[in-house]
Parts: sequence; C-alpha cells; structure tokens
Amino acid sequence: MLEKFVIEGGKKLKGSVRVSGAKNSALPLLAASILSDDGLILHNVPDVADVRTMLKALELLGVKFDFDRENGTLEIDSSNVKPVEIPYDIIRRMRASVLLMGPLLARFKKAYVYTPGGCAIGARPIDLHIEAFKKLGATYTVKEGYSVLKTRKLKGNYICFDKVTVTGTENVVMASVFAQGETIIENAAIEPEVEDLCRCLVKMGAKIEGVGTKTLRIFGVKSLGKAEHTVIPDRIEAGTFVIAAAVTNGKIKIENANPYHLDAFLSKVEDAGVEIETGDDFIKVKGVKNLKSVDIETSPYPGFPTDLQAQFMVLMLKAEGVSRIKENIFENRFQHVQELKRLGADILLDGNIAIVKGGKALTGADVMATDLRASASLVLAGLFAKGETRVHRIYHLDRGYQNFEKKLKALGAKIKRDRD
Ligand code: EPZ
Repeated sequence: MLEKFVIEGGKKLKGSVRVSGAKNSALPLLAASILSDDGLILHNVPDVADVRTMLKALELLGVKFDFDRENGTLEIDSSNVKPVEIPYDIIRRMRASVLLMGPLLARFKKAYVYTPGGCAIGARPIDLHIEAFKKLGATYTVKEGYSVLKTRKLKGNYICFDKVTVTGTENVVMASVFAQGETIIENAAIEPEVEDLCRCLVKMGAKIEGVGTKTLRIFGVKSLGKAEHTVIPDRIEAGTFVIAAAVTNGKIKIENANPYHLDAFLSKVEDAGVEIETGDDFIKVKGVKNLKSVDIETSPYPGFPTDLQAQFMVLMLKAEGVSRIKENIFENRFQHVQELKRLGADILLDGNIAIVKGGKALTGADVMATDLRASASLVLAGLFAKGETRVHRIYHLDRGYQNFEKKLKALGAKIKRDRD
C-alpha cells in the first residue's frame, strides 16, 4: 500500500530524540551471521524495511531468529544454514543482499545471488567485489540472471581496490575469514560501519589486523563461533535530525549518537552558523536565524558523507547566498533537486555539481520520494515550507528510518502518515 507524509511547515523542533542503530552496519552484520553455526546476538538493530528484507533472505538460507523489535535485540540461530539461491525478489528490494556473496562463498564455497541492477542513484556495479573474489580463487559466471561464484578452496591474496567501496570491502573481508593464509586489502573503506563489522568478526574468532584503517590483513581461521555485539548508532539518521533542528530554527538533543562519526558533516554545519555542542553519546543542535551558504563535496569516509548530501542541500536552501554542492560518489544522486524545485527551490544542476541559491521562501506542494536519502530531504524541506507538503511513496524512506514521523512529531513537527 502506497503511503505519504503530510507535513505542515513552520513548527520549531524542540526536545530530545534517540537515534536507532545503523542500518548500514546491521546489514553486513546480519550477512556475517551465516559464517558461524553457533549463532550471533545483536543489540540495537533498527526495525527498518531493509533489515526485514535481509532477515527474509536469511530465512531462505535456513536461519532462525528471534527479533525483539522494541528493544532491538536479535538472536540468530545459524546452525542449519544451507546455500540456497538468493532470488531476484530479494535483490530487487535491496541490493545490499549482495553482502551474502562473501559469507556464502567462505562457508559453502559457492554463492548464487541474483545480479543486482542499478538503482535511482546510479548504476552501482559490483565489478570490484567480483574481481576481488576471483583473486581469492573463485570462478564467476552469470547464469539466468544469477551471479554464480564457486571455488574449490579460497586462498589469501593481495587485493587493492582502485575505488573505495563500502560493501565491496565488507564482502571481501567476509569472504577471506576462512581463506588459506593471509589476505591483504589495500584502499579498504574505513566507514564506521566497516569497522563495526570487523570488530564483530574478531569477537566471533576472525583474525583481522588494521581494523579501522585503509589496509586490512585477514588471516584465515578454521571456523567462527558465537558472539554478542551492539550495532553502532546510525550517523546518517543523526545527521538528518541535525538538519531538521537547523532548518526549523529549533533546539534539540540527539541521544545515542556518536558525534565522532560525523566530524566532516558537523564542521560544515557549524560553518553554516548552526550551534553544535557534542558529548560522547549526544549532539545538541541550536538553529540560528541567519544561516550562511557553504560549499561541500562528498567523498569516502572521513570526508563529507554522500548519504547526507541531499539533507545538507535543504539546509543551504535556508541560507542566504549561493552554495556549491559536488557529488563525487554516485553519478545520479540529485533526484531530490527536481522535487525541491516544486517547492520553489532555486537550484541549478551542472553535471555532478548543484548550485543552490538559498534564502527564498518555499511553499508546500506534492513531491515524490525517489530514493532513501532524497526522501528524507523532502521531509526536511516540508518542515519549513509555507503550508502543507505531501511527500509521496515514502516506502523509500521506511527502508532506512525507524519511526521517522513519530520521532519528528515528538519534537513538535506537524506530520502524519496517510494512504497515498
Ligand atoms: C554503501 O553502498 C551504502 N550502503 C550506501 O548507503 C552509501 O551511499 C555508499 O556505501 C557510499 O558511502 C550500504 O552500506 C548498505 P560503494 P555501496 O560500493 O557499498 C562504485 C544508503 O542511503 N562501485 O561504496 O553500494 C559505486 O557505483 C545507501 O543507506 C563500483 O564502480 O557503495 C559508487 O559510485 C545508499 N564498482 C562508488 O563506487 C563496485 O564494485 C561507491 O560505492 C562497487 C562500487
């Protein structure tokens, strides 16, 4: 059933909000659970659509689980995992199911995962994943749409990614935990979610050195055991709420957040004039009347995160002046621009650069969500546009934000979920 958010702009956000666990950490951790038949216990797992899709995929593989959606504790029993095919129906809902390739290859020496297509933000090939699997001794063919990986035995090797890839790094780390000898991954992604996965794998008994750095060394072990792990807070959800407070000139405290995972983003938000105060597990945000235009460009961690580009663009719509936003990671991550223009935004696109002329009042209208983070930016714009904004197809947003409208309502926003 298609649903929409109906938002009445103009309310200042006040109070505190608790951030959920990171979707992009929970997904690789769920995939990693099939590496051991002793099970895995995860805490702070977000109850979002992408996690539910990954759990469906795990069920197909014979995994049993008990998910307490309220408190986020997930107990996984992976004692009966079988290497069945991961079908199109799973992949079309969530391309991150490719994260099952590495663990299936490592544990069963074969993986049948339907080949992911592109998505709204870009072609998103997995050539780097496949090249790395081949370096570890796997053969790769495509059969009736399935990517088929097979091996007699995985052997450690030297892998240097010519492009930083988050799930590529995660997939190859998981593929190499049982490989014979040592695997070195150069130019590894160092996103906090990659580090979170490595920490959990080490708790399960994997031998990984250089965790959190661009050079990972994995020494193959015989098997992995049971572990208990808490998913890190979702830095992208936290960043989204920072912008929500800033654009409504509000004052909020974001709890269960890790500000150290948002250095580049928070420093740009402060450059725009927003008042930020941080502690070990919170971010306090105070909006100001006169925001300043700031240029950003996205890059792999620890640079400005591409997943907060659309949200930051909305902040720039409130700032006086012109800001230049350069998207370096995905070739088509400006889907939100067309929609923001319906609200009266003045944005000029030139290839992978958006020129944002801020300071113009926005007026509520019907807009359509196209991808996860773009949909969040449309809600943020609706929070300060004059009148009513209706954001359609919010299933995109439900993929990665838990109870988004409930959290915003608790902060004073006028927002409700309706049938489309
Ligand atoms: C992860 O996607 C995240 N998803 C994305 O978050 C995030 O935007 C992205 O990393 C960048 O930070 C998950 O972690 C589940 P990449 P991923 O491989 O791993 C190209 C969200 O909103 N590339 O780091 O798919 C690719 O096309 C989502 O939660 C290749 O060319 O991203 C892109 O241009 C959206 N070949 C760039 O590299 C490959 O084999 C970075 O992609 C792999 C990637």
